[in-house]
Amino acid sequence: MNQALNESLSPWRLSVAPMLDWTDRHCRYFHRLITRHTRLYTEMVTTGALLHGDRPRHLDFNPEEHPLALQLGGSEPADLAACARLAQDWGYDEVNLNCGCPSERVQRGAFGACLMAEADLVAQGVKAMRDAVDIPVTVKHRIGIDRIESYDFVRDFVGAVAEAGCEVFIVHARNAWLQGLSPKENREVPPLRYEFAYQLKRDFPGLTIVLNGGVKGDDEIAEHLRHVDGVMVGRQAYHEPWSMARWDERFFGDAPAERDRADIEKLMVEYMARQASNGVAWSHVARHMLGLWNGMPGARRWRQVWSDHRLKHEPPQAVWRQAQRPAAQPVSEPA
Ligand SMILES: Cc1cc2nc3c(=O)[nH]c(=O)nc-3n(C[C@H](O)[C@H](O)[C@H](O)COP(=O)(O)O)c2cc1C
Repeated sequence: MNQALNESLSPWRLSVAPMLDWTDRHCRYFHRLITRHTRLYTEMVTTGALLHGDRPRHLDFNPEEHPLALQLGGSEPADLAACARLAQDWGYDEVNLNCGCPSERVQRGAFGACLMAEADLVAQGVKAMRDAVDIPVTVKHRIGIDRIESYDFVRDFVGAVAEAGCEVFIVHARNAWLQGLSPKENREVPPLRYEFAYQLKRDFPGLTIVLNGGVKGDDEIAEHLRHVDGVMVGRQAYHEPWSMARWDERFFGDAPAERDRADIEKLMVEYMARQASNGVAWSHVARHMLGLWNGMPGARRWRQVWSDHRLKHEPPQAVWRQAQRPAAQPVSEPA
């Protein structure tokens, strides 16, 4: 690796977004096989789930996943501090506070995007977490809520939270609408305003500003990196995982990736076999890699095999062999 170049780059230069039900530890293991340097985020975990629930289930990860951030949902400073400590003790590299989720369930818990209207409370939470841990405490947020269109709102939010010691802001560059849209719809509307994220970087040059929302190709990433410190990619990375294969070389100055898709698939089969011995069904792992061969001949049939529930009692190696067969062979034919 080109050490000199790499050390000068922000650790937040590229990341895969936290995505509930998607970026679990198996997904992150898969992504890490494709890109060594991209920062990975857990799904959001609520402070209540961590303080009162099954901690290993929420917090355990594979050592290969570093650099790795735990995303928290919560608003009570003492709870956030306790959970940040858990994150540090468990070995996470960062703890991130979700101030961007518009779901009504999340609002009822008084966290997520509605916290953008309570910058002081977020600042208290950040301060409590920073007092509790040495790992970076970061915030992921929107550029506004509901019909607040003015840039001043997000500038003041970032200013107040930065005062409390937060140095890294991940900006999903569209407003959160707290009513009338599902979270899914609210990832498409209202429109993205990248200019707000760029302006934050100009107004707070000492902060790390990471842009998120609707980013697709590598050239788009490169363009954003001219204006901000980092780019976070969500759905594109998940649906087209091979799009991350060039990132280490292009954005981190590392050597070209040596593994091809077949190597990654083979490593995933080995991982599935290890997980099976812990009682994890291969389908829980395989569901995250269904986009691996997108755009290549036979990708559709390959995907069908890896999502075929009739094969659920087969060992992953057998499913793998089936997935390698020429397209003419029916999926259900016994091995
Ligand atoms: C299925 C799904 C689940 C998500 N869950 C979370 C979450 O737990 N925490 C969070 O901050 N954002 C969550 N998001 C939002 C993403 O982190 C990201 O901000 C959003 O998808 C925009 O980025 P993209 O256009 O690159 O996907 C989720 C998005 C999706 C698609």
